[in-house]
Amino acid sequence: MNILVAYDSYFGNTEKVAYKIGETLGENVPVHRVQDVSSDMLNGIDMLVLGSPTRAFKASDATNAFLKKLPKDQLKGVKVAAFDTRMDEVKVGNPVLKFMVGIFGYAAKPMAEKLVKNGGVLVGEPAGFIVLDSEGPLQEGELERAAEWAKSLLA
Ligand SMILES: Cc1cc2nc3c(=O)[nH]c(=O)nc-3n(C[C@H](O)[C@H](O)[C@H](O)COP(=O)(O)O)c2cc1C
Repeated sequence: MNILVAYDSYFGNTEKVAYKIGETLGENVPVHRVQDVSSDMLNGIDMLVLGSPTRAFKASDATNAFLKKLPKDQLKGVKVAAFDTRMDEVKVGNPVLKFMVGIFGYAAKPMAEKLVKNGGVLVGEPAGFIVLDSEGPLQEGELERAAEWAKSLLA
């Protein structure tokens, strides 16, 4: 299967998750920054996994730009899945933030919806992996959870 993992990352946490997912999905699965993914690179793929940090309740600007410029039906029949990294609003303990998250959520779900809108076939629930602070690190066990999630995409 021809798989591509694309991600954005400011502090390296989403990058770590993306590489873990890539190596779990198979040997030599390409993992690229979303800014470096051209439409040509998407031609002929069977699966696209897209990852982004959650920034202001949404995907990063680069991720949204990538999704926006996807040609219509570019992903027709392609298996797709989306993940984000995020803070745990319960752990942050800020009631205003918790309220806002309740309304606006995180990046992965709208990313998955946009991939499907472009013809993709969703093969896994959107996933979120927790960072302990804005710049990380990832919460213990999250890379293992990412690997499990990646395996589930192949099932
Ligand atoms: C400007 C800014 C906005 C953020 N907004 C959110 C947010 O809305 N929800 C959330 O869970 N985390 C938020 N975070 C935390 C990021 O999700 C965290 O920095 C990211 O997961 C780290 O991944 P990276 O190292 O790949 O950039 C924000 C961080 C920054 C710096």
